[in-house]
Amino acid sequence: MAAPRYNRSPSRRPLWIIILLTLICVALIGAYVYPPRHYSACYFLSSSVCSPFHPPAPARVYTDDEIAAHVVNINILLAPAFQPKNPKIAFMFLTPGSLPFERLWEKFFQGHEDRFTIYVHASREQPVHTSSLFIGRNIRSQKVVWGDISMVDAEKRLLANALRDPDNQHFVLLSDSCVPLHNFDYVYSYLMETNISFIDCFEDPGPHGTGRYSEHMLPEIEKKDWRKGAQWFSVKRQHALLILADMLYYNKFKLHCKPVKGHNCYADEHYLPTFFHMVDPTGIANWSVTHVDWSEGKWHPKAYRAVDATFELLKNITSIDESIHVTSNLKKVVQKRPCLWNGMKRPCYLFARKFYPEALDNLMNIFSNFTVI
Ligand SMILES: *[C@@H]1O[C@H](CO)[C@@H](O)[C@H](O)[C@H]1NC(C)=O
Ligand SMILES: *[C@@H]1O[C@H](CO)[C@@H](O)[C@H](O)[C@H]1NC(C)=O
Ligand SMILES: *[C@@H]1O[C@H](CO)[C@@H](O)[C@H](O)[C@H]1NC(C)=O
Ligand SMILES: *[C@@H]1O[C@H](CO)[C@@H](O)[C@H](O)[C@H]1NC(C)=O
Repeated sequence: MAAPRYNRSPSRRPLWIIILLTLICVALIGAYVYPPRHYSACYFLSSSVCSPFHPPAPARVYTDDEIAAHVVNINILLAPAFQPKNPKIAFMFLTPGSLPFERLWEKFFQGHEDRFTIYVHASREQPVHTSSLFIGRNIRSQKVVWGDISMVDAEKRLLANALRDPDNQHFVLLSDSCVPLHNFDYVYSYLMETNISFIDCFEDPGPHGTGRYSEHMLPEIEKKDWRKGAQWFSVKRQHALLILADMLYYNKFKLHCKPVKGHNCYADEHYLPTFFHMVDPTGIANWSVTHVDWSEGKWHPKAYRAVDATFELLKNITSIDESIHVTSNLKKVVQKRPCLWNGMKRPCYLFARKFYPEALDNLMNIFSNFTVI
């Protein structure tokens, strides 16, 4: 009885294997061609890199431009990061003219000359420099209209210039009213010893959030993907490249997100949060490392005068370890999230705005006190 069975099996086994392999292949091809709603390529790839493979809208045929954009984005995200011998942080200043806090920044940078680079985009007038560190650091600039795509263009111009230096591994966007909250070593390790970019991003169902969405964004950008966030980002090199490589979503914002009467939209508050929410949602922190105080509920954030620039104020800001987002609808829902850095709860902010130029002397006096760490 044993012999015939033994004889049968060698001839059957390859057939079974072939049938099984065929079924697996058919299933894989089927899953690839007809992805179910919640299907994710993450099933086959490690989750940290696969999010861009997950189609933003599975039940749709992509345009040629979208297929090209996805493949470029995925390959930028998957490419191993270049590790220079001497990694630097690019500090990119977006300003109308002179920078009132150059002397304060000089204090901050002093002694770390081989670990930073400075770029200045002055959109209105040639800045007069008060620190030698800033001399020769102006890039060719263009006019910037507040809330317009020209703001994003200036950011891209700064990134393009800063990316030319392969040592630059992290890129911080700062304004003329920004000041540092910690010493250089603290900022350097905070930004360099993590794999995420600090891009502010949240879903605001109110008039200043989703209310600014336009159906013209379709089919590439759906309403559910629309996000909002502060302009002041800090991004790793891969993400800086993604921003420069993107034409698809950028063009949508250029055409359909403008400050126009009746339907205001501000590209600098929506483009990057929406873009990164779509292409690498787990690669961003969802908060900005630049603090600003909107608690007064006005059109502009609180701006600090000389008398406000005290040790107590700066200590208060540096102790904040939860990011807060408030929706712009009537409910004014407050979303509080711990600032998690490599999984640890840590202070959220490295920089703060907006300070009036008159605050300089006070800040200079207390700088070494509040930046002990
Ligand atoms: C960043 O990612 C690289 C490669 O995936 C990994 O080796 C490294 O440990 C990560 N660093 C941190 C601080 O998470
Ligand atoms: C940022 O928010 C997205 C959801 O939009 C989430 O997937 C991601 O994990 C968040 N980032 C961090 C660092 O928690
Ligand atoms: C600092 O925070 C404390 C406690 O929240 C508050 O009472 C105080 O007014 C704050 N001081 C400044 C200068 O912001
Ligand atoms: C700075 O700190 C030192 C020691 O804690 C203190 O004596 C000094 O008054 C502080 N200066 C200011 C301006 O706060």
